[in-house]
Amino acid sequence: MSSETITHDVIIVGAGLAGSWAAMIAAKQGVKDVAVLSKIHPLRSHSSAAQGGIAAALNNCRPVAGTGPRGPLEQIPPGDEPVDSWELHMFDTIKGSDWLGDQDAIEILVKDAIEIVFQYEHMGCVFSRTPDGRIAQRRFGGHSVPRANYSADWTGHVLLHTIHEQALRQGVHFYSEWYCLELIVEEGICCGVVALDILTGQIHTMRARAVMFGTGGYGRAYAITSNAYANTGDGVAIAYNAGVPLMDMEFVQFHPTGVYKHGILMSEACRGEGGYLVNKDGDRFMEKYAPDKMELAPRDLVSRSEQLEIDQGRGIGPDGKGIYLDLRHLGREKILQRLPQVRDIALKFSGVDIIDEMAPIQPTTHYSMGGIPTNSDGQVRANLAGDPLTGFYAAGECACVSVHGANRLGTNSLLEASVFGRRAGYAISQFIQDGAELKPISDDPAERSRKRIETLLTREGPENVEHLAQELKWTMTNNCGIFRDEPRLEQALVDVKQLQERFHSAAIMDKSSRFNTDLLAAFETEHLLAFSEVIVSGALARQESRGAHSRTDYPARDDKNWLKHTLARKDRDGRPILEYTDVHIDWEKYPPQERKY
Ligand code: FUM
Repeated sequence: MSSETITHDVIIVGAGLAGSWAAMIAAKQGVKDVAVLSKIHPLRSHSSAAQGGIAAALNNCRPVAGTGPRGPLEQIPPGDEPVDSWELHMFDTIKGSDWLGDQDAIEILVKDAIEIVFQYEHMGCVFSRTPDGRIAQRRFGGHSVPRANYSADWTGHVLLHTIHEQALRQGVHFYSEWYCLELIVEEGICCGVVALDILTGQIHTMRARAVMFGTGGYGRAYAITSNAYANTGDGVAIAYNAGVPLMDMEFVQFHPTGVYKHGILMSEACRGEGGYLVNKDGDRFMEKYAPDKMELAPRDLVSRSEQLEIDQGRGIGPDGKGIYLDLRHLGREKILQRLPQVRDIALKFSGVDIIDEMAPIQPTTHYSMGGIPTNSDGQVRANLAGDPLTGFYAAGECACVSVHGANRLGTNSLLEASVFGRRAGYAISQFIQDGAELKPISDDPAERSRKRIETLLTREGPENVEHLAQELKWTMTNNCGIFRDEPRLEQALVDVKQLQERFHSAAIMDKSSRFNTDLLAAFETEHLLAFSEVIVSGALARQESRGAHSRTDYPARDDKNWLKHTLARKDRDGRPILEYTDVHIDWEKYPPQERKY
């Protein structure tokens, strides 16, 4: 396996919205040599899988007068009273986060939202429209008013295509199907990455003045997930292994509507457009759990409600682990116009036409609220004191800025990736223009990766990588899922540690060097095992219930002891050490309240 050193001004790992925004902005601001590495084709990045919308208080739509908060929507005539504001968006996001979101970052998110949606529009993004030609808006869970700006149910897809085109236009170089293996940090400064060209099997040292991770989430640590096969949290694990702490990893989001048995996303837009959730007795059970918001309560609450129905024997399907999503009353025209992808997914994976039949769904692992801690310019925090790791940036789902706290509202993820990807792009270009140097690298940073590969290719050990990954996913699903308690979390921790041990004698079948997906799966599994220990350790330590972290043995939120962020750092023995840091709260304007829907 030969090795070649490659140099760029900026290297961005991940070609989703966060990475592509940062690359496009840095190049536009005059940084000459910006490169993006993506382990899959850039347009297959997972941002494209977000279906229902991007939040921004545009004030284009409102409920028809006299029809109540769940009534039909109409466009707001020019000059009429606005129904929305960035302040309302901010409050909804804070409440959605169960007060764990940093309010200074949330303020940036919701203020920038309006401009960024118009920027997408000016770049040619094909949004759905109101009759008078403005961007159409729909409802989403936990948002007080219609605020999701959408392109039917293809929103992430059209945003990603738009921004990818713009990055290409600015001369950004894309390395497609290159896999980042390591972050190079020397004397507290980030100076590049080690990467594998998947096609040729060559390892490269890639030097840069600045590195950014926009590597996405880690739903693949669970058995049922809406996440693509690529979402194995590589960036999160690589940063952790390089000594960067991870923040709030115990907060894992379960989306209420994944395809039954498969987990594939059936957009929250289904409920935003008026869909019902129904148990085996035909009851719209959300009446019991969130009488005001019903199906449009936030995801943590709806997923818990579904799970309770299932656990109490009112689920559907042969194993009773499903729930029905009923869209029939929306009518053929609305479904074809607003939810065409969802219809297609239900047809292909469940054999059900949502125009005529109820679709079987179940909660599915969807999003990671935690990740690599950053400030609001994407600068990575190296420690509890918040000191920056010079030259290293992160944005999007792999990062934790933290705007989502303990539970993210739907449509705030496309927004976060765009807003903080763009801000990271400006910060990186400033860093370069301020004279950031290309640091010399002392020895051969690719050596460790070469050895890792050699070991994996030559080992004839008894363990099978895929089996280890499956065991991990099931223990995470069964023991660190929607509901958690001490015995189950202890079990998950024992399992994860044993799997980490067993990984040392895992072999792969494919011994070739070119496009070796077995080898890739081994790296991914090693990454899953590394950060899953952090998720479980954080969940075990946090003796309260907040947002998506629901402990049946500690059912109440405990602000006195737990209104704080978790930071997990890898110690010398390779185990996570947990420390805690304050949440940024404006005690005058948005003090913690009881969270009711
Ligand atoms: O349900 C959805 O369309 C997903 C959107 C999101 O996670 O923001």
